[in-house]
Amino acid sequence: MAQGNSRAIMTNQTGVHEKLIDLVSKYLHSVNHRPINSHTQEAFDNVREWLGEWDGDLILDNCCGVGASTVKIAQQHPHAKVIGIDKSAQRVDKHSHYAVRQDNYMLVRADLNDFWRLARQAQWQCVKQYMLYPNPYPKSTQVQKRWHGSPAFLDMLALGGELILRSNWRLYLEEVAVVLAHLGQATQLNDVADDEPMTPFEAKYQNSGQVCWELRTMSD
Ligand SMILES: C[S@@+](CC[C@H](N)C(=O)[O-])C[C@H]1O[C@@H](n2cnc3c(N)ncnc32)[C@H](O)[C@@H]1O
Repeated sequence: MAQGNSRAIMTNQTGVHEKLIDLVSKYLHSVNHRPINSHTQEAFDNVREWLGEWDGDLILDNCCGVGASTVKIAQQHPHAKVIGIDKSAQRVDKHSHYAVRQDNYMLVRADLNDFWRLARQAQWQCVKQYMLYPNPYPKSTQVQKRWHGSPAFLDMLALGGELILRSNWRLYLEEVAVVLAHLGQATQLNDVADDEPMTPFEAKYQNSGQVCWELRTMSD
């Protein structure tokens, strides 16, 4: 029985945004000259220091919020280093409620628009990247605010690894799948069937009786 009161996504879009592929094509042929925010540069330098000479498996938990998922991922991948990244100080500061004794993960407050660009310049290569419940921006006019409608998405993809995205808005993930297919990457979309919610947002949506979806890239 659903007990929560989280409302389902309302959108004026009837299908995949018609300008999406044009946007991605434009980003493929342009260079991002936006200056890097000094706070994110500092955060990136701290993460680099924490990584030291690490050349083992690296996993990013993008938009990690309070980092509940970062902990779970770190526990599931004890031989990897896991970095949870979120721009909200308020959320990252709440991590102490979810923290565990586990030394293979780090949480950092940073803007992913800049963090991915710095990681790309430093030639990071990930084995996996998570993106769980990104802000949907469901109005048609907001397409460029969605990660896959922004130039930053190409920086994220350049970091490599299996992609695992979750959303309560199926169309968001269908759009990501269309962009990835355009770039030659096959994906699989399923509903989330975990016993335990992976994040607070997932718990909230499931408590409200909403279906949560997961998109994964498929290896060749
Ligand atoms: C809906 S919340 C989901 C949080 C968490 N993954 C969860 O499921 O509980 C979306 C998160 O994306 C973060 N976010 C949005 N834009 C960002 C950006 N440019 N850089 C880093 N994090 C960002 C927000 O701060 C927020 O915590």
